[in-house]
Amino acid sequence: MSENKRRDELEVVGVEEVRKSGLDVNKLIDKLVKATAAEFTTYYYYTILRMHLTGLEGEGLKEIAEDARLEDRLHFELMSQRVYELGGELPRDMRQVADVSACADPYLPENWKDPKTILKVLLEAEQCAIRTWNEVCEMTLGKDPRTYDLAQRILQEEIEHEAWFLELLYGRPSGHFRRSYPGEGPLSKKGSK
Ligand SMILES: [Fe+2]
Ligand SMILES: [Fe+2]
Repeated sequence: MSENKRRDELEVVGVEEVRKSGLDVNKLIDKLVKATAAEFTTYYYYTILRMHLTGLEGEGLKEIAEDARLEDRLHFELMSQRVYELGGELPRDMRQVADVSACADPYLPENWKDPKTILKVLLEAEQCAIRTWNEVCEMTLGKDPRTYDLAQRILQEEIEHEAWFLELLYGRPSGHFRRSYPGEGPLSKKGSK
């Protein structure tokens, strides 16, 4: 194969098979870029949110916010690779990342000194992530096993994150006990694939 062969002329069986399954690959890439961008923006904003969990009450919440923050970075890394395998790309300009994100920016709330306001922002972000990854799972089920596998692993962790914040806000039990180490990502860390 000529080294000069253009990227769009290459035979990519891994993409062809997805196309043959009836999936619109461009639509999938678009969805994945938006969902992946949301993971990155969330990781960024969670850094600020976690930083503002201060005082006696905030201290107990830092670790759990940190787990959710670091796991979002893992989600970004896990799905970025898939975007490129499929022939897509992430925005080359960092400024566009938040603009294309599938979820609203989880800004630091005005009255952040009440940690509950921060927990509510975290909860909403997790709920958006669940909807987004669930849509990816529905799109790819039975059609693109690799994207499905990655998306369902992310989805499982997002469901855990939602349950953690629901428990902290409303006392609804989540079965949570601390990760083995911060941001473990039991299903999304490298080596778990
Ligand atoms: Fe995430
Ligand atoms: Fe999350």
